[in-house]
Order: sequence, then C-alpha cells, then structure tokens
Amino acid sequence: TLDTRDAASKVLLEYAKNHEKNDNSITTDGGNPVGQKEASLTVGSLGPILLQDTVLIDELAHFSRERIPERVVHAKGAAAFGKFIVTHDITQYTDACVFATIGSETSIVVRFSQVAGERGYPDTYRDLRGFAIKFNTNDGIWDLVGNNSPIFFVNDAINFPMFIHALKRNPVTNVRPDYDAFWDFVSLRPESTHQTLQLFTDRGIPASYRKMHGYGANTFSFINAAGKFHYCKFHFKCQQGIENLSQSEADRLAGLDPDYYARDLYNAIHNGDFPSWDMHVQIMTPEQAATYSYNPFDNSKVWLHKDFPLIPVGRITLDQNPTNYFAEVEQLAFDVSHVIPGIDFSPDRMLQGRIFNYGDTQRYRLGINGTQLPVNEPFKLHNYNRDGQSILKSQGGAPNYFPNSFRGPKNNIRARALQPKIPLNGLVDRIDNGFDDNYSQASLLWRRVLKDDERHRTIENMLNWLRQTNRVIALRAIENFANVDQALGARLREGLDKQVKLPAHVSL
Ligand code: HEM
Repeated sequence: TLDTRDAASKVLLEYAKNHEKNDNSITTDGGNPVGQKEASLTVGSLGPILLQDTVLIDELAHFSRERIPERVVHAKGAAAFGKFIVTHDITQYTDACVFATIGSETSIVVRFSQVAGERGYPDTYRDLRGFAIKFNTNDGIWDLVGNNSPIFFVNDAINFPMFIHALKRNPVTNVRPDYDAFWDFVSLRPESTHQTLQLFTDRGIPASYRKMHGYGANTFSFINAAGKFHYCKFHFKCQQGIENLSQSEADRLAGLDPDYYARDLYNAIHNGDFPSWDMHVQIMTPEQAATYSYNPFDNSKVWLHKDFPLIPVGRITLDQNPTNYFAEVEQLAFDVSHVIPGIDFSPDRMLQGRIFNYGDTQRYRLGINGTQLPVNEPFKLHNYNRDGQSILKSQGGAPNYFPNSFRGPKNNIRARALQPKIPLNGLVDRIDNGFDDNYSQASLLWRRVLKDDERHRTIENMLNWLRQTNRVIALRAIENFANVDQALGARLREGLDKQVKLPAHVSL
C-alpha cells in the first residue's frame, strides 16, 4: 500500500531499503560476533546468568551510559548541514578567510533550539529560539552562537545563571514555569523589559525554525588586513518569510506533536526545500562607539538600523539532514571563544562571560577532547595539548613542548597581525549596568513596530502569564511596562483586574 506519511516518519523504512543485502552479523563493542542476541547465557533454562556472559555485560554497560548530560540551556533542538556563500565584498572591514572572495563557500552546521526546556520539551512553547552556526574554515572553527532575537533579557554575564534559574523548574515542585520566579526576576531587573516585551509578541512562537530571523546579538569586532578594527553585529534574514503561531495553535501542537519544529526542518530538507538566510552586518567605528546614544556593548539594546544600516555579506543554505542525531547534533558543540583571525570580541559583558562559559560547560558535557569529535573537529589541529579521555587525534610524534627545535607548530604571524590593539583604562569596580535607559527602545518596538492587532495579542499573552503570579509581583512587573508606554501599563493593570477563568490548577 502507498505510504503517504512524511519523510521524518519513514527513516527506518529508508534504512531498510538501503540495506537490503546486509548480511553483517551482530558484534559486541569489541567487534566479536554474537551467536544469539535474544537470550542471556544461563545455567539451564531456570538457572542464573553467568558473569562470563560478555554479550549481556557489553550491552548493559553501554546502556547504563547512553545518556550524556544535556545542554544546561538550549537542550531541545534540531540541526542541519549546509554552506555559507559570500555574495558581497566586506574585505575593507575584515580579513577573515570566510569573507575573502565573492562566491567562495564554507561548510556549516546550524543548530536551532529553544532556551529553557529540557531535551523532550514541546517545540512550540513560548521562548526565544537558538540559532547557532558553526563555520568550518581554513583558519579553524568559527562558532557564531545567536538567537532569533537581536537582544537578550540580561546584559551582564553574572546575571545569566540567575535568570536561567528563574526560568527553569522550581526546586521544590520540579514544575515549570514558576511564574512567581519569572516575573519576580524580570521585574527586579528592568534591563529585561525590552526582551520580555518582545517575547510576548507574535515572534515569541515561530511557526518553524525555517520561518524566523537569526541574530548574533552580541557585539563583535572585525579587523582588516591593515590592522584597523570596527565593531560589528551579525544578522541572518530569513528567506522563507517570517511566520508565527497563535498561542492556541502552539498549545494544540505541543500536545499533538511536541517535536513539530524538528519534523518540519527534517521534512523540508528531505524534500529539497532548502531553507536559507541572508547574512548582513552592522558596522560601527570605535569613534562612533564612544559617542553613540546607546551603550553599543549592551545586548539588551539594538543598534538602530537607521544609524547603522544592514550591509549584505552572503547567504547560508541548509541542504543536508544529520544521519544520526546523537553523533551529529547532541555531540555538536558551539563555543563562543572559537573565532578566526579577522573576527574578534568586544567589551560586551555578556559576550565576555560567554567566551569562558561554552568551552567550560562542554569540557563537562563532552569531555576535554569533545572538540575532536567528527562534528566539531577543525580541518587542522596543530598544538601542544595532549592526552585526556577519549582522544581521537594524538598528533603522533610531534613535539609536545614549545618552543622546540624539531619543526613543531609555530606562532602564526597573520593571526598576530589581526589581533585588535585596544587601549584600556579605568578603575576596577563592579558597576551595575542594568538601569541605563531600559525603556526607549522598548517604546519604539511597542509604538512604531507593532501594529494594533499584534499589540492586542501581546497584551493577552502577557496577561496569560501575569495572572499566574501574585499581585505584588505582577504590579511591579507592569510598572516596567508602564515606563515603556503609559497606555500599555494601564491596559495590563486593567486586564489583571478583570475576572477571567484560569485553568483549574491555577489559584490566585
Ligand atoms: C547554549 C551559556 C547567553 C545563545 C548555551 C550553553 C551554555 C550557555 C552553558 C550550553 C552549551 C553546550 O552545552 O554546548 C550562556 C551564558 C550566557 C549566554 C553564560 C550569557 C552570559 C546567550 C546569548 C545567546 C545565547 C546572549 C544568543 C544571542 C545560545 C545558543 C545555545 C546556547 C543558541 C545553543 C547552542 C547549541 O545549539 O548547541 N549557552 N549563554 N546564549 N546559548 Fe548561551
């Protein structure tokens, strides 16, 4: 009979079709052939299992260790492989090898995710979505780890784990979200107002990973061949058109098909409908950075496009599905500290924390040699790091100390030339940057970008969450939104007072 199910539902059938003549016998992890897989080795049919049942021990021991720690955030996601093609010349800003020639191609892998849920969480829950790109270049790996939002809730790395605690499960009940914790945190940290407002707009629930933009969000720098540097931000404009889900449709899908986005991405690529995004950059000189009306290193704010227009650079296209989720997606690791000569960092406090945190969490999640896993490995590896668990590339007999006289790898003159020379001074101090103009850009979003009908839905979405926290916290949170727009504050206060029928589990 004709099997009309989607491609993602038929991967086992595909496997069987492609392996018709497979007569390989089963082996243990040691490669030893297994005579009978379905029965343990016992003393007679009623007797105990023997310790010498190496087949059983091989299987149970592996089974016990099947799971590795999931990502502490962004655990639920899906990925695909593809390429980046340069369409415009930006060598006046950067000497990075990926941008060197128009038409040149770099292989990439992109992983999309949601932030707060665990590996089995429904795809269509309201949240930001991750948009992480690994470029495998001749100068090593460049990981650009962004979201589908140009901003973020907090703007100093020291507040990130606290925000995530407030977003994750309550430590007593193991229930999430804990609306008290969420609204308490965001109301006490007003720099979150801009991102929180955006979360409740239609963009809080994309229709698909293919139907949303991507943003590097943090501020990076570009260095050109002459050693001159500029600050930059990265944008990825979705070529499929933006599409979002209504709250009720998202709720329905969360029950019906919790892996809705993963299925959609797999099927689109399988059917040759390859999603693509156009890469743009915004460029700011150090002089402009010194005088810009917003702190250009504060990722709770954007660089307004009218001040820093988008400059086209190239296109990413995804045209290949992974062949094994665990090997190629679960073990995939993006590390913000992986940049290539011509691209560097900025004083953005979130970025600075991230430079440390990704490698650190991956050394725990995948081990010290996780960068050698096939999906993460760079084309070239020449260094003096050695050994550790699960080494895949030993570097043979190359000298393991430096300096040396035996042709071991040397300093790279070009990489040194492309390091920005930034003068620094200031008093060492802890200066809270969470209270600088948190409302003017959120006002632009509310008044200029959103249309009337979307404003209405945004308020409904906010009220759905606000009604589930206690009144003191809800009113404090609404104060921040009243600073964005008095009428918005008034409508939220009014909506909060209205009697509505809440789900049975919610008591106020
Ligand atoms: C994943 C930390 C801010 C985007 C992660 C992971 C950690 C982390 C520990 C798990 C990585 C892994 O296990 O491989 C942080 C810290 C932040 C921060 C400490 C702030 C100081 C951000 C921001 C963005 C972002 C601002 C977006 C602009 C992502 C994405 C992933 C991720 C997309 C998933 C990567 C993947 O698909 O494997 N983050 N994060 N994070 N983060 Fe962040």
